[in-house]
Amino acid sequence: MYQDPTTTIEHLYSGTPVYKHELIKLLKCDDPYILELLRSRADMVRQEHYGTDVYIRGLIEFTNYCKNNCYYCGIRRDNKDATRYRLTLEDILHCCDEGYKLGFRTFVLQGGEDGYFTRDKICHIIASIKEKYSDCAVTLSIGECDMADYQAFYNAGADRYLLRHETACNEHYSKLHPDNMSLENRKECLYNLKSIGFQVGSGFMVGSPFQTLDNLVEDIFFLGKLKPHMIGIGPFITHKDTPFCNHKSGSLDMTLKVISILRLSHPKALIPATTALGSIHPNGRELGLKAGANVIMPNLSPANVREKYMLYDNKLSTGKEAAEGLEELCKAVEDAGYKIVVDVGHAKC
Ligand code: 5AD
Repeated sequence: MYQDPTTTIEHLYSGTPVYKHELIKLLKCDDPYILELLRSRADMVRQEHYGTDVYIRGLIEFTNYCKNNCYYCGIRRDNKDATRYRLTLEDILHCCDEGYKLGFRTFVLQGGEDGYFTRDKICHIIASIKEKYSDCAVTLSIGECDMADYQAFYNAGADRYLLRHETACNEHYSKLHPDNMSLENRKECLYNLKSIGFQVGSGFMVGSPFQTLDNLVEDIFFLGKLKPHMIGIGPFITHKDTPFCNHKSGSLDMTLKVISILRLSHPKALIPATTALGSIHPNGRELGLKAGANVIMPNLSPANVREKYMLYDNKLSTGKEAAEGLEELCKAVEDAGYKIVVDVGHAKC
């Protein structure tokens, strides 16, 4: 049956199932009236569950060594121009100390898939943070691991895990990743994490090379099945030293549209206005909040390693994107009509 995009938005808003062709139509739509309706509906839904609260997470990028060779990513194994680094436990705890003083109550340990950080080492880091800051949540974002590793991380005190599925279509997945990686394994990891009891985050890049509107709808449907607590969406951004150096970056508008659709279909999810969104547009972060996002993840890594965690060209790590720029960020968030809260900020589901 024919549905105009206004009806699709109302269906998303009321939780009525929507069809693929409806979503494609909405993703294609560039009518400003309809786009504003989508945005304002998403903003309303976030308001119903979270008011104007914006949660902050301190991002600690603790290693940029990676055994994987994803074609889009600046810290891929074969990028010989990346200067590699690892933080020590002391460095990491120092980041947490600084973050805690600033008001952070969630620390996100993100890194490449680095064999140096064995299960025991990761567990020791988690336990050390939890021992010092029992009122804080620890989120891991360190890629695909065995069930036993995930269970050990959970037992050591980790609360949450971020693992983007990147694309929910096998064929597209194989265009973004080498043959030794599979969507099947990625999905299995996500379901394993859920079954252990982690609050799980997933997501994908908008405008990644070879992505079609069909792929985007598959991504939205996959998240509908997975029902993650957190959803990280950002535009693909070209990195000059990767095989995708000649592919153009994803667009701000499409990313905002997808954020709004996901807010409508996951009313209680924690959705960050990502660094990538802030990196492609000076107001990207604020526009992300207005489109339905409710989390910001400023960089807590030591200043001397930040430029080495270059997932894509011109990745922001200073100013409002840096933990020490929190005051400036608070002001920008308030000007946009929201408020940063000091809270561990669990998903309300
Ligand atoms: N552009 C945008 N996002 C990227 N990521 C990796 N490379 C890029 C890029 N070139 C994202 C991936 C990964 C997350 C940590 O960063 O989605 O899951």
